[in-house]
Amino acid sequence: MKTTVAIIGAGPSGLLLSQLLATRGIDSIVLERQSKAHVLGRIRAGVLESGTVDLLRQAGCADRLTREGQVHDGVVLADGDTQFRINFSDHIDRPVVVYGQTEVTRDLFDARAASGGHLIFEVGNVAIHDAKTDAPYVTFEKDGKPDRIDCAYVAGCDGFHGVSRKTIPADIRREYEKTYPFGWLGVLSETPPVHDELIYASSDTGFALCSMRHATLSRYYIQCDINDRAEDWADDAFWTALKQNLPPETAAKLITGPSIEKSIAPLRSFVTEPMQWGRLFLCGDAAHIVPPTGAKGLNTAASDVHYLFHALQDQILNGDSQALDHYSETALARVWKAERFSWWLTSLMHQFPQQSAFDQRMRRAELDFLRSNTAAQSVFAQNYVGLPY
Ligand code: APR
Ligand code: PHB
Repeated sequence: MKTTVAIIGAGPSGLLLSQLLATRGIDSIVLERQSKAHVLGRIRAGVLESGTVDLLRQAGCADRLTREGQVHDGVVLADGDTQFRINFSDHIDRPVVVYGQTEVTRDLFDARAASGGHLIFEVGNVAIHDAKTDAPYVTFEKDGKPDRIDCAYVAGCDGFHGVSRKTIPADIRREYEKTYPFGWLGVLSETPPVHDELIYASSDTGFALCSMRHATLSRYYIQCDINDRAEDWADDAFWTALKQNLPPETAAKLITGPSIEKSIAPLRSFVTEPMQWGRLFLCGDAAHIVPPTGAKGLNTAASDVHYLFHALQDQILNGDSQALDHYSETALARVWKAERFSWWLTSLMHQFPQQSAFDQRMRRAELDFLRSNTAAQSVFAQNYVGLPY
């Protein structure tokens, strides 16, 4: 097979890049290890920055998002028994849109199907070859048969556990990592959300997040021990712990119900540099991971795709390699700012083992400053709704 851009991974990064390239008549083939149903079965955060919404609109797949997405102009932060709201439009004229990542992926799949996108699922043994030449190629297996894609460029959109990052030689790669001493236990329940905006809550008993998918589907998280297993958490124990971490006025309004999904996610900050090697370019989780506290995973993948799409367009359609030659440094400049905000909010809102009494007072003082200072709230709002591309 032959194409212009071979894309590894049919998550949000790979699908969005493929769809954007198609809008400029640039051919791509997407290789995906899992089945389409498996990809659609993933439950992930759905807080979209306005840049992500604009990109989906540019890709021609934002109609349902526009109809069903919930525009949020603020977020609530809680510290112990008190809570306060940060109103985004007091500081920046861009809201966020709450719309599940699963729905984003579904819309991208539909758009690729409608425009004749070439997606190959359930492939095995994907390998990237000759990335440092002007004729790279990708080998893989499908139904046990070996196959090959000759291409001009390879986009590594295959997530943290993919092959693309590891194709860059270890002596070239610089990896930066921070793991957090706790996890997030998440529950999906067919109950009305406790509030019409998200609530990030910090308390002496731990972190909690109240989110939603729509008016009758809520998503809740509590901080848990990294060694916990979801199956060891009965629903009642989860609801009790959630209420304990929320201000009483919010806990009293919580409508509980049976969990329809329950899982634990570890928290990690990770960045690999560079994000390009020859004609291989990394996007999204293949290059970086953030703790979910700032909802930056999908949105930072989207900004990578924005940069790579425009750089490939300049090169392929106009013969201008300037943006492509500098893709890594351009993407990383925004990646590191997203990493900083995600690390800062995670450090601020969670209880850390062996945290000293002084550390606790610093956490409380930082939240009190954020509650009472307009400039601090403006910095929060600019980061949360998304820094410019
Ligand atoms: N060959 C083909 N496909 C692969 C391979 C491989 N060797 N390894 C992984 N994949 C696929 C995975 O099955 C997955 O569907 O690549 C895709 C990567 O998708 P994501 O992990 O969702 O990463 P990305 O598209 O960058 O999206 C980032 O998704 O994971 C969340 O929190 C993350 O919200 C962020 C967003
Ligand atoms: C979610 O709705 O799953 C969600 C929202 C915001 C976050 C993380 C997860 O920061």
